[in-house]
Amino acid sequence: MRVLGLETSCDETAAAVVEDGRRARSDVVSTQVDIHRRWGGVVPELASRNHVVQVLPVVDEALARAGVALEDLDLIAVTAGPGLLGALLVGLQTARGLAAATGFPVLGVNHLEGHLLAIRLVEDAPPPPFLGLVVSGGHTSLYLVEELGSYRRLGSTRDDAAGEAYDKVARLLGLPYPGGLPIDRLAQSGDPRAIRFPRAMNSPHDVDWSFSGLKTAVRDRVRAHGVPAGQALADLCASFQEAVADTLSRKAVAAARRLGVPRLVLCGGVAANSRLRALTAERAAERDIRVYLPPAALCTDNGAMIAVAGHEAWQRGVRPSANLGVDAAWRP
Ligand code: KG4
Ligand code: ZN
Repeated sequence: MRVLGLETSCDETAAAVVEDGRRARSDVVSTQVDIHRRWGGVVPELASRNHVVQVLPVVDEALARAGVALEDLDLIAVTAGPGLLGALLVGLQTARGLAAATGFPVLGVNHLEGHLLAIRLVEDAPPPPFLGLVVSGGHTSLYLVEELGSYRRLGSTRDDAAGEAYDKVARLLGLPYPGGLPIDRLAQSGDPRAIRFPRAMNSPHDVDWSFSGLKTAVRDRVRAHGVPAGQALADLCASFQEAVADTLSRKAVAAARRLGVPRLVLCGGVAANSRLRALTAERAAERDIRVYLPPAALCTDNGAMIAVAGHEAWQRGVRPSANLGVDAAWRP
């Protein structure tokens, strides 16, 4: 079965062709970061407009790289939420148009389910049950994937998402948007013990997080001492990164242990973070939990993960709904 996955929920226009739910024949991502960078974050109206410009060329490119024609597809899967309303609508209308032209079925897919199932595109994917930590610009939640299609949210951030904290701190430090990668890079040469930033809600017995206090601590420091440069900047980045990776990995590993689920998947853009990956792997190994880390391109938003989620939904009998719409606040 060949599925076209279409993703336009935020600032990435993405399309991919996935075969049998496991093999990406193509995965094309056109990012809008250069457009949003000067505003320091995603501007919804600009996102929608640019999806309109990019979406058909990206679909064409995905088909071309996969070496297939539109007629060779079996199913179109499109992100139907959560995300920016106008941005989601561009993807949905495109999918509807392609379906009208070809007669193929269209399934609306949850973006977070896409992140959770992206790991199926790597060869050695975990069988359910497994825990999935979704850490992105918009979400920080831990899910129990009981089986494909059955997700239980165990806990979430109470305020900022982890990626949002990265992006806000980067802005305070005068670093480009999105802030995850620049902070991660600077942190490589910094001392993570230089500044002891607060770890909010650090009990290992629940799975909720809070990152707004950490961001405020960075802001207060910048207000008091100015924006650091050189080694001091690297130290601040490393210390901030340590605080984020510490609470995320501690709670996710503790939950896996408590529930007796020995498999933990990291997913979403922040799952590309070097320290989060290393610390989670280290802590999990101590407790006989296996950690699955998708390559960075499968962590950030992409069309292949949407195709996988669409494929799995089809396999378990989900069929197109006559009133397929988008839901900007949809939770799986
Ligand atoms: O999953 P994603 O591409 O989009 C959303 O669904 O939000 O995640 C984007 C987020 C941004 O906040 C970005 O700063 C963060 O992922 N990010 C990182 C890294 N790479 C991307 N955060 C920390 N370290 C990274 N290496
Ligand atoms: Zn995402």
